[in-house]
Amino acid sequence: MHRPALTAVLLPLAFAAGSCRAHESGLPAVYEEIQVPARELASPDIQRQGRVIYRERCLACHGEHADGKGSLGGALRPPPTDLTDSAWQARTDERHVYYAIAEGGHGKPMPPWKATLSPGEIWSLVAYIRTLVAPPAAAAGAPAAAGTSHLGRAGQQ
Ligand code: HEC
Repeated sequence: MHRPALTAVLLPLAFAAGSCRAHESGLPAVYEEIQVPARELASPDIQRQGRVIYRERCLACHGEHADGKGSLGGALRPPPTDLTDSAWQARTDERHVYYAIAEGGHGKPMPPWKATLSPGEIWSLVAYIRTLVAPPAAAAGAPAAAGTSHLGRAGQQ
């Protein structure tokens, strides 16, 4: 009947999605199900901790201003992502940023960090990265966040 044929078509699709279950976000199940620690992400202390780790581990490629223009970045193809790009920030979300940092670029030059950094340290980086572009509401209420510093609120600490 029709059933076996349909299964034959759908099964490879499920595997192509990267796990036994297909996820709308395209993330592997283990990252899809991870809890986003919203309170920690909003904490200025955690955001500052992320900034410290960023400067130790990420600045060489992503740059002093997180705009992808680090001293090592110029030689890389693709180049390091401009983390201050509001279009990129709007396209992504906390889980994707966590996933990108933990797993790296899979053959692209972005290294995986899950063996080096703890989950808490990776979340602090996510928290910091999210401060680099002020959300529209916050920007309207706090013009300084969208002002001269590329680093936004965290950069002014
Ligand atoms: C060796 C250079 C290098 C270092 C060090 C590095 N990155 Fe990257 N990063 C890259 C490159 C190159 C890309 C672009 C990869 C791509 O386009 O797929 C990237 C992409 C990213 C992205 C975007 C991924 C996406 O899916 O959109 C994030 C977020 C990121 N890096 C965060 C970090 C953080 C945080 C650190 C420090 C813990 C770090 N990177 C260290 C080179 C680096």
